[in-house]
Amino acid sequence: MADVYSMDSQLLEAFMVDVFRGLGVPEMDARICADVLATADRRGVDSHGVGRLKPIYYDRIRKDRIQQPVTRLEVVRDFLATAVLDGHHGMGMVIAHRAMEMAIEKARRHGLGMVVARNSTHYGIAGYYALMACNAGMIGLTGTNARPSIAPTFGVENMLGTNPLVFGFPTDESFHFTNDYATSVTQRGKIEQYEREGKTMPPGWVINHRGETETDPAAVLRDLVAGQAALTPLGGIGEATGGYKGYGYATVVEVLSAALQQGAFLKQLSGLDADGSPVPYALGHFFLAINIECFTDTAAFRKTTGDILRELRGSLKAPGQRRIFTCGEKEYLAWMDRRAKGIPLDDTVQRQMITMRDELELNGYRFDFER
Ligand SMILES: NC(=O)c1ccc[n+]([C@@H]2O[C@H](COP(=O)([O-])OP(=O)(O)OC[C@H]3O[C@@H](n4cnc5c(N)ncnc54)[C@H](O)[C@@H]3O)[C@@H](O)[C@H]2O)c1
Repeated sequence: MADVYSMDSQLLEAFMVDVFRGLGVPEMDARICADVLATADRRGVDSHGVGRLKPIYYDRIRKDRIQQPVTRLEVVRDFLATAVLDGHHGMGMVIAHRAMEMAIEKARRHGLGMVVARNSTHYGIAGYYALMACNAGMIGLTGTNARPSIAPTFGVENMLGTNPLVFGFPTDESFHFTNDYATSVTQRGKIEQYEREGKTMPPGWVINHRGETETDPAAVLRDLVAGQAALTPLGGIGEATGGYKGYGYATVVEVLSAALQQGAFLKQLSGLDADGSPVPYALGHFFLAINIECFTDTAAFRKTTGDILRELRGSLKAPGQRRIFTCGEKEYLAWMDRRAKGIPLDDTVQRQMITMRDELELNGYRFDFER
């Protein structure tokens, strides 16, 4: 097996569709789930692509049985511009996709559409749903809570999820603006990647119960699971570098993911019962679509947004820096690059793909990296 092998993204996506179908996910839903993961891979978000297929979806459905492959989506409340959904522990991507579709439909008719969901599961890259609104010519906003990971400022206990808070703005450029990131300095997927690559983490990403930072990814992952360490909010440890601002934004996401939909929050999202047995994560999400035409011409909005981004990129660079980026740009560049070169798969992911193929008897797949 090669250390890193690049696979055509269409073939990778087809494989993921078949894995989801093999798990019992209906065809159309399997396509949505695979599209979310393949979009992460195409955009260079390696922490949330095919590398998550086995640990986050396959194992939770097949081994832990804490997620339902068939999504039973219940509309709990539905007013003109708003709705509340209950996902009954189905597929998070399917619940989120439907919720943003509903928000867009409502915004088309009423200017704004906001849909919140409870009892959902991991929905993947938040940017996917913000981009759905951008592709409909609208502003998108989304966030989700997640299993407890971040310690509040001056605390050391993992309380808040990595809680991404993501906006999407259509522009007059080749790519939309999306600030697609967690409200922690880093997130678990990136630490797992550091471990796979045998790298040491920068200080300040994690705080342990002694109030010290840790940098060994294997020890950090162990301590995070044991509740002996926590991630730090955006801004880092303490007040000096503004850690309380990330702490505040993570709390905003926790409230919008739990209070409107009366869902679970903080430690209730640990995924374990009192005996330590796996239970559904019962996550909450929120989705907002804003119809730009109710405020100004979409073309004018796109141009002003593009002007702001171009002016930022054109500003004075720090010594040694050749380029300033704006949000969504690196993902666009990755998309262009990977369209030609394919998606890099490290040997852990290659092994996981072989295991899933064999266990589901997807005998039509023979991977080049097995030679
Ligand atoms: N579903 C969940 O529970 C969950 C939780 C946390 C994160 N996530 C997802 O994980 C993914 C990765 O999150 P992350 O926090 O590691 O993101 P990250 O730190 O890799 O940041 C990525 C974002 O920052 C922008 N960016 C990067 N460098 C930049 C620069 N120099 N200038 C301007 N912008 C720049 C990118 O365009 C992108 O929008 C995201 O897709 C996020 O939605 C999901």
